[in-house]
Amino acid sequence: MGASACLPVCLGLLLISGCDRGRPRAAEPQAPPPIAASLPPVDVAAIAHTCAGCHGTGGRVRDSAFVPLAGLPADRFVATMKDFRSGKRPSTLMGHVAKGFLDRDIEAMGAYFAALPAQDEKGGRR
Ligand code: HEC
Repeated sequence: MGASACLPVCLGLLLISGCDRGRPRAAEPQAPPPIAASLPPVDVAAIAHTCAGCHGTGGRVRDSAFVPLAGLPADRFVATMKDFRSGKRPSTLMGHVAKGFLDRDIEAMGAYFAALPAQDEKGGRR
């Protein structure tokens, strides 16, 4: 559940920023509505951006050992991410990454990356 993973972090940041200046907090945060009911539409470009730190901007890599995400077939991407999430495919950290996403997030990312132009290892278009 993507939103639920953010919640403790976001609340923590709110508390820290509210307390360390010694000012009273403006307002108590409202109890959030049930997550499933409050999910906004998937902003797939924003999600995909979080992958870029390791996999390269836009899912492209130039000279690393990472498999480029750009141009990866959607069905392979979706199967890989679900296998990371379930632990079927062993990983050092993609299991943790994948646990942050719902099926619909993974499917939206699959379509997004599949539509990005693949590049060769020097960054040129294939
Ligand atoms: C902190 C670095 C990091 C981030 C952030 C990251 N990855 Fe990865 N990714 C890895 C590593 C490392 C591997 C190799 C598997 C492992 O050991 O976890 C990998 C492997 C993969 C693979 C398998 C490629 C293949 O076929 O071998 C896919 C697909 C993938 N990542 C997708 C993503 C997506 C989508 C995101 C963003 C939601 C993301 N990754 C974010 C580090 C990262």
